[in-house]
Amino acid sequence: RGHGGWGQGSLRFTPVAPNTDDKLTVPDGYESAPVVRWGDPVLPDAPAFDFDDQTAEAQAKQFGYNCDFVAFFPLGADRALLWVNHEYSDEALMFRGYTDGTAATEEQIKIALAAHGGSVVELERAGRSGRWKLVTRGRRRYNRRITAQTPMRFSGPAAGGDLLKTAADPRGLRPIGMLNNCAGGTTPWGTVLTAEENFNQYFVGGNGVPEAQKQYLTRYGVSTTTAIPSGSRRFDRVEERFDLAKHPNEINRFGWIVEIDPTDPDATPIKRTALGRFAHEAATTSLTRDGRLVAYMGDDSRFEYVYKFVSKDRYIPGFDRHNRGLLDEGTLYVAKFTGDSPKEEIDGSGKAPKDGRFDGSGEWIPLVSGDKSYVQGMSAEEVLVYTRVAADKVGATKMDRPEDVERNPVNGAIYVALTNNSNRTPAQADEANPRAANKHGHVLEITERRNDAGARTFAWSLALVCGDPNDPATYFAGFDKSKVSPISCPDNVAFDREGNLWISTDGNALGKNDGLFVMPVSGRDRGHLRQFLTVPVGAETCGPLITRDDKSVFVAVQHPGETDGATPDAPSSHWPDGGESQPRPSVAVVWHTRGRNIGS
Ligand code: FEO
Ligand code: CA
Ligand code: CA
Ligand code: CA
Repeated sequence: RGHGGWGQGSLRFTPVAPNTDDKLTVPDGYESAPVVRWGDPVLPDAPAFDFDDQTAEAQAKQFGYNCDFVAFFPLGADRALLWVNHEYSDEALMFRGYTDGTAATEEQIKIALAAHGGSVVELERAGRSGRWKLVTRGRRRYNRRITAQTPMRFSGPAAGGDLLKTAADPRGLRPIGMLNNCAGGTTPWGTVLTAEENFNQYFVGGNGVPEAQKQYLTRYGVSTTTAIPSGSRRFDRVEERFDLAKHPNEINRFGWIVEIDPTDPDATPIKRTALGRFAHEAATTSLTRDGRLVAYMGDDSRFEYVYKFVSKDRYIPGFDRHNRGLLDEGTLYVAKFTGDSPKEEIDGSGKAPKDGRFDGSGEWIPLVSGDKSYVQGMSAEEVLVYTRVAADKVGATKMDRPEDVERNPVNGAIYVALTNNSNRTPAQADEANPRAANKHGHVLEITERRNDAGARTFAWSLALVCGDPNDPATYFAGFDKSKVSPISCPDNVAFDREGNLWISTDGNALGKNDGLFVMPVSGRDRGHLRQFLTVPVGAETCGPLITRDDKSVFVAVQHPGETDGATPDAPSSHWPDGGESQPRPSVAVVWHTRGRNIGS
């Protein structure tokens, strides 16, 4: 057996070695291809992409920038819809000679607004393989672009509340656009839940808001001392609503989970206020034992929290009108993790405590249920709009940047990707976040009481403490570390049909490119983590999405070429088009050349 060896079960591929190559590298026996690239036409009347002749009008009809979450909706055996988030724009790579938002042309700012949001595109299967291709001809009636300028609506308990009202929308019901949509999930009724993450970066004028509001801006990472934060895209130069001094509530209209129906291009996207407001990484769903809908969520900032929402009513298969109200009524909880080892054994080094495991028990603390607040001194509306403040007050556990939180459909456990936290001190180390200056992150596994997603209590343990396996402060679920791949900065998770845990990374602090990994979570191979692919220079790996037939894996290759000092005149990546081309964020598909299941 060589490095990585061969596992029991069906994961038999030879791991990809860590590298810094400017390409998408897959294991022997597999192939990959880009499916849809930044600038590819989405609407049938979109022009072809031209890097040196971009317009906002064209971008609003073309595939947006920085693809992130990917969802796949089969329309029969050989057709499907792909939903893709467009998290953010990187103007320094999109435009030649770009310096900052203040010097940008208004057209560039409008292009950036149109490059955000999401896309729905139609795919067709190529031959009988796991390869899927973009449909580029015909009516493509589902194809759609959502941008930072798409009309949306609020629903749920905070909709229409004073905190969501603005001059342009005095009823507080009709927000415009979505921003920084990172990851997401899907619902059992076939819609997308897309998560607004770092919305704080789009606003200026934080120094000019009413005094009473400043504490909330600060808590959500917005400067209250400068008019123009450095690096601002200056969206306010084309839309005044991004100036907080003039429109202090506009920012409260971002930071939500947005529900979008990919099969209805005319449907208005819905911001679901019952799921709270924070730097939402994602929202992934499951059902309680008695059939209520649960959404698990992370707030991806340092020392933020893990949440879940549980609907009041049950999901009823096929009863669409009823189901589409489930995300408006229910209870929002935040997680508290308690370790079972003495505090003095958790010294921040990452060395395991005497019982050999980072583990313990925990509870879901209720914050708000409809109009009822469980948080002293805060109304239900305040809990939903200023959810971070509410979670602070109830003593939730401050985590190392909670990214994806997702329930494994096979074993029922919940996996939390905690990507890193450079700011945690040794004194702040706890059993659930045991490393100070946590560079490589960890993955936490939660088993809820009676394995019921509706439970209020749970057991937890760290399944992975990431890094170079030769580093003693790493842990691979107890597996032989000489046989695993190094991993750093877990971000998104997914599961195949066997319940194997797939993990994509963002920001590899080991000096190699990011990638996609897989690890069994049960049996003798539990902890046997292997790298399945690597992405090109400067990119992070998003998605991932494994199709239900296990024949294809989609990854969103986000920000290829985003390295220090790279510009269109000196690009650090030429992926996917090669030659001297500009890098283009793109969704790629990987399949086995002989039609085997992914991972075999
Ligand atoms: Fe956009 Fe938390 O990654
Ligand atoms: Ca312990
Ligand atoms: Ca992410
Ligand atoms: Ca990330």
